[in-house]
Amino acid sequence: MDHFSHKDGVLHVEDVSVEAIAEAVGTPVYIYSRATLERHAQVFRDAVAPAGRTHVAYAVKANPNLAVLKVLAGQGYGADVVSGGEMARALAAGMAPGDIVFSGVGKTRDELTAGLDAGIGQFNLELEEEGRVLGALATARGQRAPATLRVNPDVDAGTHAKISTGRAENKFGVAIDQAPAMFDRLAKEPGLNLRGVAVHIGSQLADLAPLERAFERVGQLVAQLRAAGHAISHVDLGGGLGVPYRPGETLPEPAAFGAMVAHVTAGWDVTLMFEPGRVIAGNAGVLLTRVVWVKPSSGHPYVIVDAAMNDLARPALYDAYHDFVAVRPTGERLIANIAGPVCESGDTFAMGREIDAMASGDLAVFRTAGAYGATMASTYNSRAKVPEVLVDGARFAVVSERVTPQAILAAERIPEWL
Ligand code: LLP
Repeated sequence: MDHFSHKDGVLHVEDVSVEAIAEAVGTPVYIYSRATLERHAQVFRDAVAPAGRTHVAYAVKANPNLAVLKVLAGQGYGADVVSGGEMARALAAGMAPGDIVFSGVGKTRDELTAGLDAGIGQFNLELEEEGRVLGALATARGQRAPATLRVNPDVDAGTHAKISTGRAENKFGVAIDQAPAMFDRLAKEPGLNLRGVAVHIGSQLADLAPLERAFERVGQLVAQLRAAGHAISHVDLGGGLGVPYRPGETLPEPAAFGAMVAHVTAGWDVTLMFEPGRVIAGNAGVLLTRVVWVKPSSGHPYVIVDAAMNDLARPALYDAYHDFVAVRPTGERLIANIAGPVCESGDTFAMGREIDAMASGDLAVFRTAGAYGATMASTYNSRAKVPEVLVDGARFAVVSERVTPQAILAAERIPEWL
C-alpha cells in the first residue's frame, strides 16, 4: 500500500497535489511519502518479528536522503552502510552507532577506523585480510570489533546479473566451503568479536526459493561453526526482497518472507539481522517530470520529458521498468516511446509502451522511484542534480535542493598555468 493516488483528477502524494510541488520546486523532482515509508517500515518489522530476536538495518544505499533516514530512525531502524559517507549520514540522522552495520567489499582502513571511532554495532567482513586489519586497528584502540563473516553461498538469485551478488563468481563474501577454516583463524584475532555470519544474494528478488536455499546453507554453516566451538550469536540475512514495478505485478509479500525466515531459522537461537532497502523505499517515491515535446518519429512518437538517465539511471542500466502515469489523466491512451533529453540513445525510459495520452507541458511521474533513484543521479550533460521533496500529510518540504549547473561550475577551477 502507498499514498500516491488521483484525487479530483490530479495525482496527490498523501494530501499534497503534485502540481503544487511542481509549481514550488520545478521539475524534475523526486517526491517521497513519509506515511508510505513508515508503513513499509512497520510491515517489514512485523513480518520478521515471528522469527524471534531481530534487528533491522535499513540499507542506506537505497535512499540515503537525511530526512528519509530520520523517518526510519523514528521507526526504530538501524542502518546498513557501505561507505564512510553513508555512516556519517546514518549518524547525522540520529541512528545509534550500535544499530549500524558496516557492509561493503572495499572498506578502506580509514573507513574501518571511522567505524571503530564511532563505535558502530557490526562490521560484515568480506575477506580474511580485512578481518586481520580490523582486528589490529581495534586492538590498537583497546577495542574488540563486533564482526560477522559474509559468506557467498553460490546461489543464483534469479535477478538481473548486475544486481546479483550470491554467485561464486561475484565479488562478494567468501566461499561458503572456505568459511569454517577462515572463521577458525579469524576467531583467534584478539581485536575481533567474531560473532556470526552474513549473507546477501542480490536485489529485486521475485522468488523466495533462492533466499531459502541460501539461508539453509547458512544454517548448516552455523551448526558446523558451533560444532567447532564457536559462539554464534548473530546472523545477518541481508536484504533483497523485490517490489512490484509493473501494474498488477505480484511479488512475495514481506509476510511470506518473514514466514519463510521463521521456518528456516527455527532453532538457530541467534539475533537475526536484516538489511532491507528497496522494499522500504521503492514504492515510497516518484520522479515527477514535465513533458517537453511530443516528437513524431518513424515509429511510435517520442514523449520527451525533462527527466533523464542522469536523474533515474535504472532503465538505462538494468532495462528496468518504471510505470509512467499522467498527473491529470484524461482517459485517452497513447502508444509511445518515453525518453529524456540526454544525448544518448540509451536515455530512453520505455519503447512502444501504452501510456496516458500526453502533450507538451503535461506533468507525469515515474513510479517506484524511491529506491536507487535520486541516490544514483549524476549531473551528466551538465544537468542539475535533481532535488528531493518529502510529503507529510498536507505539508511538504524540499529535503535536498536542486544543485544548479552554475553551482557545479563554481566548484571547478582553471589552473593559472592554463
Ligand atoms: N545488503 C547488502 C549487502 C546489499 O548489497 C544490498 C543491495 C542490500 C542489503 C539492499 O538490498 P535491497 O533490499 O534494496 O534489494 N542499484 C540497483 C540495486 C543495487 C543493490 C545493491 N545491494 C537497482 O537500482 O536495482
